[in-house]
Amino acid sequence: MKYTAKTADKFVLYQNAVQSADAEVDFIDRLYKKAYGRPALHFREDFCGTQLISCEWAKLRKENEAWGVDLDQPTLDWGRDHNISKLKPDVAARVHQLHQNVFHVIKPKVEIIGAFNFSYFIFKERRTLVTYFKAVRKSLASEGLFVLDCYGGWESQQVMQEKTKHDGFTYIWDQAAYDPINDHTLCHIHFKFPDGTKMKKAFTYDWRLWTLGGIRDCLFDAGFSKTDVYWEGTTKKGEGDGQFRKTKEAENEPGWIAYIAAMP
Ligand SMILES: C[S@@+](CC[C@H](N)C(=O)[O-])C[C@H]1O[C@@H](n2cnc3c(N)ncnc32)[C@H](O)[C@@H]1O
Repeated sequence: MKYTAKTADKFVLYQNAVQSADAEVDFIDRLYKKAYGRPALHFREDFCGTQLISCEWAKLRKENEAWGVDLDQPTLDWGRDHNISKLKPDVAARVHQLHQNVFHVIKPKVEIIGAFNFSYFIFKERRTLVTYFKAVRKSLASEGLFVLDCYGGWESQQVMQEKTKHDGFTYIWDQAAYDPINDHTLCHIHFKFPDGTKMKKAFTYDWRLWTLGGIRDCLFDAGFSKTDVYWEGTTKKGEGDGQFRKTKEAENEPGWIAYIAAMP
């Protein structure tokens, strides 16, 4: 695929570079079955963006239904036109869009809620994060599961850029600022193309770099009864192997990604 800054669609590049929706859906499906001994059918994707994960959820089995929540109508529209519309009609009919703030959605009750790609880092105050987690808890069925991801390690506090080559473009993760007084971090995604053109600041994230301990405390304060951390295994070369296992203690690493699964 030949992209240039003029012809490329930032959402296509984002989905290719950042998301692994099939692996994520497989993971949450397995977690739920392990927790409750039966498959979940109803899934809510908070901060859903283009709703790639919702679409994958609806494809998994014919009873599955997904609701995506996002504040940004143009992003939801892109997801409808490029992701939902590509599904078979009976599958597409089971993917719903909620143009709402995640704080305000408490219906319908679902078995799994997911908040991925660290989107809840947008809530910089502890009380705001706890309020969001309380709203999530209210929306979960009694046999419910809230799954969210987190990143960390000492490199996550460094001002630096990381470049990853993909088919037809380079993805640049830019950690532009980190303030140790309040843990605020400013990050951008840029894309670079083979013809030398660049799409600068295609996405910007003004976040608090939360820690696993801090997030788990907020989940308990919001009334969740149990939180488990799923830590990624490593290959012989010391790289992440994409397999996340329930882990009680871990050695810190320069950069890591983990999942938290919380039960109401
Ligand atoms: C980092 S993107 C996440 C995209 C996708 N979930 C993923 O895993 O890659 C964050 C999304 O959260 C949305 N968002 C930010 N604050 C929100 C809020 N309070 N309620 C609902 N959506 C919100 C933004 O519009 C944006 O589409």
